Amino acid sequence: MMSLPNALTREEIIRWLHEKNEEKLHQLWQWADEIRTSVVGDEVHLRGLIEISNHCSRRCSYCGINAGNTSLVRYRMEKQEIMDCVDMAQKFGYGTVVIQGGEDYGIKKEWMDDIIRDIKSRTDLAVTLSLGERPIDDLEMWRAAGANRYLLRFETSDRTLYEKIHPSMKSTIFDRVEMLRTLRNIGYEIGGGIMVGIPGQTYVSVYNDLCTFQEMDLDMIGVGPYLPHPHTPLGTEGEEIRKQTPDQIANTELMTCKVVALTRILCPEANIPSTTALGTIDRQLGRVHGLQRGANVLMPNITPLHYRKLYEIYPEKAGNDSTPAETDQLLKELIAGLGRRRGKGPGGRLHTPHRSEEDSRGLPGIHKRMRGRTLIT
Ligand code: 5AD
Repeated sequence: MMSLPNALTREEIIRWLHEKNEEKLHQLWQWADEIRTSVVGDEVHLRGLIEISNHCSRRCSYCGINAGNTSLVRYRMEKQEIMDCVDMAQKFGYGTVVIQGGEDYGIKKEWMDDIIRDIKSRTDLAVTLSLGERPIDDLEMWRAAGANRYLLRFETSDRTLYEKIHPSMKSTIFDRVEMLRTLRNIGYEIGGGIMVGIPGQTYVSVYNDLCTFQEMDLDMIGVGPYLPHPHTPLGTEGEEIRKQTPDQIANTELMTCKVVALTRILCPEANIPSTTALGTIDRQLGRVHGLQRGANVLMPNITPLHYRKLYEIYPEKAGNDSTPAETDQLLKELIAGLGRRRGKGPGGRLHTPHRSEEDSRGLPGIHKRMRGRTLIT
């Protein structure tokens, strides 16, 4: 057992992000894996992902389904199609369905309310929503209908960079962070996260992202590499920006794994997926490495294949050609191969006994010492 420091300084975190030595990195992976084992255990929770709509009113410059991409055929699933996916999730024994879509105001709040109620009355699945920035009325209605969790990545905590990659938006970073706080107050478990290696993103910026994860005490944290999409502004201009950015952080598998590992160390109780984007940048090892270096969640895609191809937030998403049954089999083998087991039940946020109300809500948490936690000092 290695000795685990219970504080990390800014310098140490930035040093880890720069680390190239394999032996040293092995220590980081081991540390993250030990914390994962001792705090959230060996269960790998499976969330069935349903991509219900690729309509989007936003123009995020990195995202393939942004409103400006006119080369894309748009779809919105019918209620019955969604319910068929829900049945499939239950059949496979998943504990959660994740209902994800672009920020699509064709999704009416009453329509979604009805779907959530149906899922909750028919199954014991947890329902996670990931539908972008919606008015508080919608969020309250969906929570009252029984939705349990909400995912909204803030992408980067660097305000200038955020504004650059979200042009012509009224929102700023603080809106997404603010919305996450609102969601928590309404009673959702909240999930945030970032992309690693956005052109213009620096080491210090990722350090600040990690601070934000800890400060907000997020229940779920999704971290994936930025993958250029040719039909997006950033996909065409990104390379130039990358070259011109001193201290640009790489969008590699390795860098993403470092951020996943540090996330686990700093946020031991969080549910952390080994993301599809990580599995895309390295098809053989990405998702396995994620699970070995801090992650405890997988999100098998159960969207019908003909829609999935159109939900192209980045190109060549891993698993896009596999049927849900094939994916299920593959993940089963992957989990067993790691000596882990599939999670049972909804697999919500764990609350270890040392977590007091003050710890979890009182900001800025990063300056407080919490027993058993690694804090950024
Ligand atoms: N590369 C990697 N991740 C992306 N996302 C969107 N576009 C890309 C891209 N080009 C991620 C964002 C978003 C999530 C649903 O997908 O982080 O929040």
